[in-house]
Formats: sequence, C-alpha cells, structure tokens
Amino acid sequence: MKCCDSGNSANGNPVSGATIDIWQTAPNGMYSSQDPDQDQDEFSFHAKFTADLGGNYSFTTVKPVPYTVPTDGPVGDILKATGRHPWRPSHLHYIVEAEGYRPLVTEVFPSDDKYLDQDTVFGVRDDLVMQYQPQPAGTFPEQGFALSGTVEGRWMLVEFDIVLVAISSA
Ligand SMILES: [Fe+2]
Repeated sequence: MKCCDSGNSANGNPVSGATIDIWQTAPNGMYSSQDPDQDQDEFSFHAKFTADLGGNYSFTTVKPVPYTVPTDGPVGDILKATGRHPWRPSHLHYIVEAEGYRPLVTEVFPSDDKYLDQDTVFGVRDDLVMQYQPQPAGTFPEQGFALSGTVEGRWMLVEFDIVLVAISSA
C-alpha cells in the first residue's frame, strides 16, 4: 500500500516519511480503552509507523469486526426514537500526517461487511472501502513485514493507497 499525494498523475507522487497511526477493535468488538474485562493491553490493536522512501507501508492484523455504539445515553434515545440499530460496520481507523500535507483522519471499511450500507453514524464512503483478497497458505511475502510478523497459513491481502493533499493546493 502506498502514501501518495494527489499529484498530476493517476498514482500521485510517493510521500516518504508519512506517519501512519492506526487502531481497531479486538475480536471481541471492543477498543482497548473500553474493554470492561481489561483483557487487552493499553495499546493492543494500535500501531504507529512511517512510510518508507517510496511511500510504502504494510502491516499485519486480524480482520476487524462490527460493533455497537453505546446506547445508554442520548445517542441510544435518538436511535430508539428513529428506529435505527446501533451497529457500525467493521473498520480500521487512520490518522496520516506528513510535513506539507493536510492531516488525514479517516476510517476504512471491508467491502463484505453486512452493515456497510447501514452504518449507524453514516461514516461509509465508496472511496473508504477496502477489498480483502484471499491468498493461499505459503504465499505470505518474505519482505516488508519485519515489524509486524509473518503468516504461515491462508491469509488475506488488502491494498489500500492513501492520498494526501498538499497544503499549497488545499
Ligand atoms: Fe471505530
């Protein structure tokens, strides 16, 4: 996956050194900061890393799962009054920053999530949807995952490029 600018070409220009901050829920649908059973470390399912000279970034993680927003306050009252469910489609959170570019704060959603077209907070956009591509066992790349580990069995590949907007062209 790449970090690039909106540039003049279809692929933009690589943004080397972009800082990528990501986080997601654990398989139990809870963020580490809200897990009541304290089964998670403070920074579990969080990572922060830097794009390489070619603007490339890569990491391994488990596929995120859908979760519900809290329903014990005013939000719950609104959802009940409007007949809406509290579910959000699964997603990865991103904060991407690089000198000379507008910071990007966003979420990215798997294409096969059953709540993709009914996010209770209306966060889904077509260009924020990622495709999970099944890969056979024994095909995980040997290079590029030194920090996040390798996978022995079947795995899924997601290619998701991030486009940053230069401050001068904003
Ligand atoms: Fe979230």
